[in-house]
Amino acid sequence: MPSHKSNLDAASVSEFLASRRTTRDFIKDKPVPQEILDQILTDALTSPSWSNTRPFKIAIATGDTKDRISNEFLKRWDALSKGRNGNLLAKIKLITSRYGLPTSNRLSAKPYVAELKPRAHRVGAELYSTLGVARGDRKARDAQWAKNYEFFGAPTELFIFIHKSLGIWSASDAGLMLENLMLSAHAHGLGTCAQGALVIWDDVVRKEFDVSKDYRLLTGLAIGYPTDAPVNSFGAHRISPEEITLKKL
Ligand SMILES: Cc1cc2nc3c(=O)[nH]c(=O)nc-3n(C[C@H](O)[C@H](O)[C@H](O)COP(=O)(O)O)c2cc1C
Repeated sequence: MPSHKSNLDAASVSEFLASRRTTRDFIKDKPVPQEILDQILTDALTSPSWSNTRPFKIAIATGDTKDRISNEFLKRWDALSKGRNGNLLAKIKLITSRYGLPTSNRLSAKPYVAELKPRAHRVGAELYSTLGVARGDRKARDAQWAKNYEFFGAPTELFIFIHKSLGIWSASDAGLMLENLMLSAHAHGLGTCAQGALVIWDDVVRKEFDVSKDYRLLTGLAIGYPTDAPVNSFGAHRISPEEITLKKL
């Protein structure tokens, strides 16, 4: 029987965990070697899972498949942002054609509730300030957001689907798996970006992969080698444990 003990010291593990940061600019023409991706997926599956059910599937998009998905996302984003920011005619065009409107996970496009809004606004403001995008510059912000739909140049994009039958627990299991995946990628010198931005048009991914109706799209995840761009040095603020610890009554 294995001992289930690790020789790593706790301080090194803490340092490693703190050193993972989201990557938003990838080296386009440096693919992820298949054997490294295989190892990362194997590491991902060492996470815990409810009754060991592993209620998730991963679509791995590279090459032409990835490009087709990206092109369609970009077209839809163009239609959606023009409709949202344009005049009345542009809004009417978006609503009547429906092209660009979310086809899945509509809830993800809802505004943040008051309790969580300040955190989301803070990271947005700090990230855009790192990028030199002014607060009110909607066009520049939209252009930066559009990079999501090019997967920030990543050579590989993963789409994570979760089984509907287990409700939120499928998402919890997938989240645990994804953190392992991201940390393993990080250990291999790769960067990752979870991409909630991609969940609103799941039909685009379903057109390319054999995804059962029992599964819904949870998130996209870009993976590849990071460039030296300043955006990759951005350090999102960390809250303290007190902020998430409930007070005793
Ligand atoms: C489920 C999920 C969805 C995310 N979606 C996006 C996204 O669509 N675009 C993006 O640039 N970052 C996205 N992120 C990255 C977060 O903004 C980032 O994790 C957070 O700001 C903390 O920064 P860090 O990952 O560098 O620690 C997402 C993260 C998670 C966990």
